Amino acid sequence: MSDKPSRYASWTTGKLPLPALQEMKGRGEKIVMVTAYDAPSGRLADAAGVDLILVGDSSGMVVHGRESTVQVTLDEILLMTQWVTRGAKRPLVIADMPFGSYETSDEQAIGNAVRLVKDGGADAVKIERGGTSVARAKAIVGAGIPVMGHVGLTPQTATVLGGFKAQGRTAERAQQLIDEALELQAAGCFAIVLEAVPSTVARTATQALGVPTIGIGAGADTDGQVLVWHDMLGYYEGHAPRFVKRYAELGDAIVDALGRYAADVRSGAFPEEQHTYAMPEEELKAFEAGPRAKPLRR
Ligand code: KIV
Repeated sequence: MSDKPSRYASWTTGKLPLPALQEMKGRGEKIVMVTAYDAPSGRLADAAGVDLILVGDSSGMVVHGRESTVQVTLDEILLMTQWVTRGAKRPLVIADMPFGSYETSDEQAIGNAVRLVKDGGADAVKIERGGTSVARAKAIVGAGIPVMGHVGLTPQTATVLGGFKAQGRTAERAQQLIDEALELQAAGCFAIVLEAVPSTVARTATQALGVPTIGIGAGADTDGQVLVWHDMLGYYEGHAPRFVKRYAELGDAIVDALGRYAADVRSGAFPEEQHTYAMPEEELKAFEAGPRAKPLRR
């Protein structure tokens, strides 16, 4: 467990208790969220003291090389959630419900959310959009599973929105986004992601909502921030949105390391003595005297 912000760690499990998020909003203390997709990234996010980890369907693009998040499956999110929860102990782990896993009916939404919690180890789930998702959020919350909402640019339905572009730039659409967020809150969501919306809209939503807002491309006035792991660490080569800040250039570091490894292998500089296993002297002598070693002698 991280020794960074331990104030909110539950005394039984070390896990950040869900109500702590509300208290953080009340105090104006920022909530830190990042995506992660496997055990090492879960462990590193925990060690860095982040509060929330999202097993995002952004994995479809940044991990699996797809053009969009739409093809991501529940089984993929389930597997990644299992990996992340093995690595992350203190942060709350939120599993993204992928496109097609919650739209059909409340029963479908509850059944799949239960799988992510029961088999995946998620603490909560996230669903996108207002509209019919409001009823789904209510149903999942009613089944005892915390739900995070997500409005603004919702990548699962980016085609309907006209592509991956900022939302809420007209007065009407801005009002609509805030209404959707309020409806999701009324449905019982414990927090709302605001993606790619003008900062004035995000500020108004944050003031209007009792639950915390988590911004991504939504300015500085949301209650917390989220970034995608590969975007912020600099090893996603696709288009990076303008709201991404790169905190490292791990892609360059990895290419540099692999290049030096390749050169060492080709030149014979790797492996060295310290990377190899030796035999005890007696055993070596016996081996060299034996029949099997003979053909190997030069
Ligand atoms: O899938 C994801 O990573 C997300 C974040 C961008 C909020 O939904």
